[in-house]
Amino acid sequence: MKHELGAKIVGTGRAVPENTLTNEDLEKMVDTSDEWIRERTGMKVRHIAEPGVDTSDLATRAAENAMAAAGVTATEIDVIILATITADVQFPSTACYVQQKIGAVNAAAFDIAAACSGFIYGLQLANSMFLSGKYKNILVIGAEVLSRITDYTDRNTCVLFGDGAGAVLLQPTDGQSGIIDTYIKSDGRLSHLLIMPGGGTRNPATYETIDQRMNYIKMEGREVFKSAVTAMGDAATHILKENGLTGKDIQLLITHQANNRIIEATARRVKISKDKVYSNVEHYGNTSAASIPIALDEAIRDGRLKRGDKCMLVAFGGGFTWGSAIVQM
Ligand SMILES: CC(C)(COP(=O)(O)OP(=O)(O)OC[C@H]1O[C@@H](n2cnc3c(N)ncnc32)[C@H](O)[C@@H]1OP(=O)(O)O)[C@@H](O)C(=O)NCCC(=O)NCCS
Repeated sequence: MKHELGAKIVGTGRAVPENTLTNEDLEKMVDTSDEWIRERTGMKVRHIAEPGVDTSDLATRAAENAMAAAGVTATEIDVIILATITADVQFPSTACYVQQKIGAVNAAAFDIAAACSGFIYGLQLANSMFLSGKYKNILVIGAEVLSRITDYTDRNTCVLFGDGAGAVLLQPTDGQSGIIDTYIKSDGRLSHLLIMPGGGTRNPATYETIDQRMNYIKMEGREVFKSAVTAMGDAATHILKENGLTGKDIQLLITHQANNRIIEATARRVKISKDKVYSNVEHYGNTSAASIPIALDEAIRDGRLKRGDKCMLVAFGGGFTWGSAIVQM
């Protein structure tokens, strides 16, 4: 049993656009129905960034809320790690825009790309960085404006995605609370199943790639679903076993919010009862890297997570990437 504590979460925050897109709105856009979407995914509403609002704007608001909750000022931030697949621009990093917007003049800032697992990857990275003893405050942010890469003529994908951001502020552990463990894994052989093919070096933006709608998310839904259920179940099982814990030791399970059926399957795999499973997929849809930190912020602010509770985080995303974390609050 490890149970050594790593960095602790001292503040959380989220930011979600006010503008919404309901199942009824989608019925007017593509051949779908409220009933189909609710039954297959559990979703009812997603939030959509207004024109002119960038990923860094949502990330900035989430980060500011996390800093306010922790009572930490921007100049005290040492590192900003931002997980996203919808960067403001190809480069510089969106984290650098956040750094500028919050005024974190003493920070190093960079993005990481692990799709919907990005927040767990960021958490693992930040936790490891604390071991160097060089850092006191690290922001880990998951932020997405997926509506800008969603094809609203493709019913297979357009019903699924929404926009938002969540952030956590980490400090060295006090020995009472902290990250118990993290686990990350990838399988690049399956990268083609969930991809935005255009806009990079393979298919740079040209009239042709735009005409072929390559600048939008493409997904083999059924295959992604099967892999997500297996990988998230494995990630949850693995981290519990590594730490000598079982589902009974976990007070709250927060998985990536991609689909209620995937969330329920993960909980069943590690025998965590329904009352200990967090789901907000109904209100936000799939917000990729932002989904776990948004849920975590809600759970903390609503009192669903209390000091001493063990919370398990589990994610899966394009790449494929997946991972898990157990955090003692
Ligand atoms: C996308 C998803 C909800 C589809 O659910 P599903 O039960 O697998 O449904 P299928 O893909 O088997 O499609 C069933 C039928 O519904 C149709 N369909 C797909 N989207 C639809 C929509 N929005 N409205 C109505 N019908 C739809 C399909 O065309 C298919 O029709 P067919 O049988 O005539 O070919 C599900 O596969 C899923 O959640 N996948 C994972 C998505 C995900 O999590 N992605 C991100 C990972 S981080």
